[in-house]
Amino acid sequence: MLRLLFLLLALPLAVFAQPTNTRSLLPVPSQVNWGKSRLYWKAPLQLRLERDDDPAVRAAAERLLANLGRQAGRPQASAKAPQLQIRYGQPGRMENFDEERYTLRVLPAGVTIDAPTSLGALRALATLQQLFTADGKDFYFPEVEIQDQPRFVWRGLLIDAARHFMPVSVIKRNLDGMAAVKLNVLHWHLADDQGFRVESKVLPKLHQVGGAKGYYTQEQVREVLAYAQARGIRVVPEFDVPGHTTAWIAAYPELASNDSTYGVATRWGVLNIAVDPTQETTYQLLDKLFGEMTTLFPDPYFHIGGDENDGRQWRRNPRIAQYMRDNGMVKRDGTVDKHALQTQFNRRMLTIVSKYQKKMVGWDEILGPGLPKDAVIQSWRGKKGLYEAAKAGHTTLLSNGYYIDLNLTAASHYAPDPLPADAPLTDEEKKRILGGEAAMWAEFADSVIVDSRIWPRAAAVAERLWSPAAVTNVDDMYRRLALVSAELETLGLQHRRAPHQLLTMMAAGQKLEPLQTLAGAIEPVKEYKRHFQGMKYTTETPLNRLVDAAPAESEAVRVFYTTLDSLLRAPRAKVTELPRTPATRRQLAYLRAQLKDWQQNDARVQPLLQLNPALREYAPLSTQLTVVSTLLLQRLEQLEKGQAASAAWLATAQQQVDAAKKPAGQAELALATKLSKDLLAQP
Ligand code: ACM
Repeated sequence: MLRLLFLLLALPLAVFAQPTNTRSLLPVPSQVNWGKSRLYWKAPLQLRLERDDDPAVRAAAERLLANLGRQAGRPQASAKAPQLQIRYGQPGRMENFDEERYTLRVLPAGVTIDAPTSLGALRALATLQQLFTADGKDFYFPEVEIQDQPRFVWRGLLIDAARHFMPVSVIKRNLDGMAAVKLNVLHWHLADDQGFRVESKVLPKLHQVGGAKGYYTQEQVREVLAYAQARGIRVVPEFDVPGHTTAWIAAYPELASNDSTYGVATRWGVLNIAVDPTQETTYQLLDKLFGEMTTLFPDPYFHIGGDENDGRQWRRNPRIAQYMRDNGMVKRDGTVDKHALQTQFNRRMLTIVSKYQKKMVGWDEILGPGLPKDAVIQSWRGKKGLYEAAKAGHTTLLSNGYYIDLNLTAASHYAPDPLPADAPLTDEEKKRILGGEAAMWAEFADSVIVDSRIWPRAAAVAERLWSPAAVTNVDDMYRRLALVSAELETLGLQHRRAPHQLLTMMAAGQKLEPLQTLAGAIEPVKEYKRHFQGMKYTTETPLNRLVDAAPAESEAVRVFYTTLDSLLRAPRAKVTELPRTPATRRQLAYLRAQLKDWQQNDARVQPLLQLNPALREYAPLSTQLTVVSTLLLQRLEQLEKGQAASAAWLATAQQQVDAAKKPAGQAELALATKLSKDLLAQP
């Protein structure tokens, strides 16, 4: 085990030729010039603020110094200690997209930060935190000059607090995570079929009935807003209408589009339950609520959702269908046009939201003929919607490609660019693309494990939205993502601790490592497949099984295949024997050690899996881990010796891998699902 650990630790540096000028910084700044010397942490830096009229800057600097003190020990303060000198031109107003540009200089004599606004100073402090390094003996900052600014002004993270309620502490620690990677908008999804999560003083049944399983008091909302503001993060609330409103209708049945009564939903899926857009009472209620909520939330943007309503309840209600016909909302084929009715509804929403001096944001379904230009479009279904909206004159946000709840790889979220070089837009249209948002929907994330579903992968989106477009090296992103993951740990995020605690609970006093090894080699099934694999999930289903402790993207398997790929990329590697350089020897030794560890794990973990009824469903994945490791060990030996695999061997191996791809307990064996076809093909 120790040998394996050593190899794993040595690997990233030993194996890959990485660009090292990015060092530990994520997102990568616009310009970095590294020097040769260091500023050692002998005593806490002395904070010197040239102006102090934005309390956020002093607070952020003090948090930084406290964090570094915790990491490095807190030596005696000294009047001779180097300074951390911060200058900014004026307090920044996030809501105006004021500048976040900054210059950061580290010299052996001290640190200076210069920025046009206090927002830039906050971003500089986030960078400074990432520069803090140890060399085995001392902690230090490397000498550097950084000039930096974001590529996009809107860099968001959506947190769904409606499907599973996320207490204030969850939101706060994730705001710390956002600030660390320079995300600047929390999109707070506060209402859905399964919950209405804010106290309403004007319509109290919304939280009393809709939020019976948890809601934020207005006092708590203000606490979160202050916490976000102190980190230079805006908070945009979402109240999703006309669909996704079962919880509202449970509270106020007069909103319903039919005569049924509803309880707050406990099942998942697109329910297509919508408020009645033909009743004035619906608009009166929404006006009342939005009047209250636009006051509670000071951000100029207000999100009304608008997604996933297929209009079935409207078509099926004869009165609403007649309303559509009476108002010319009819398609060419004579059937009623739900989209026209929803557009009329959207216009009413825009009137209300505008009355309260807010800009309305909605998902791309709200786009349609007749939608006024000042509605902002957030595109989740594809880039097409993003570009159509920009061409139609709307400002836009990209979320398609950034759905981190789908358990896809960080690389898959790193690739999509809101504005690729070949975007089919004029310069004027390009300016309308404000940025994007990672989206953490919470059907399968509760307050315990949600951090592990957000981090560290959300940081890949953060880099895409902040860094220059040319920053695209995936291996280097992963190298730095691991560093960010460790940094987030120091900030109190639970993305590593919570899964570890779940596993500890499941191990119930038995040895933990074999279970960790198994959990680390599997991943939850992808996209929304978890709904369709024999287990009926509701809002009440505990998320405490092995699948919930498994990483969205297995780091162990990713490192394994990345190493194998780099080995096989050597010229003619698959035809003749592998080259024998010190580097390839090291790679081979690591690959073999890792495979043997996986191969032997089944014997170590099966007794525990059989003992615990909640773990037994994962026994097949453990067995398959041994099967696939065994065949990969054989394949490695063939490659190493330059022996051709027989057609029969390859065919059997492929069958075994296909069988090993079968999920169990809504989890899948990443070693099988990520095995590339080439590996089992004749060269
Ligand atoms: C969405 O994912 N329905 C916005």
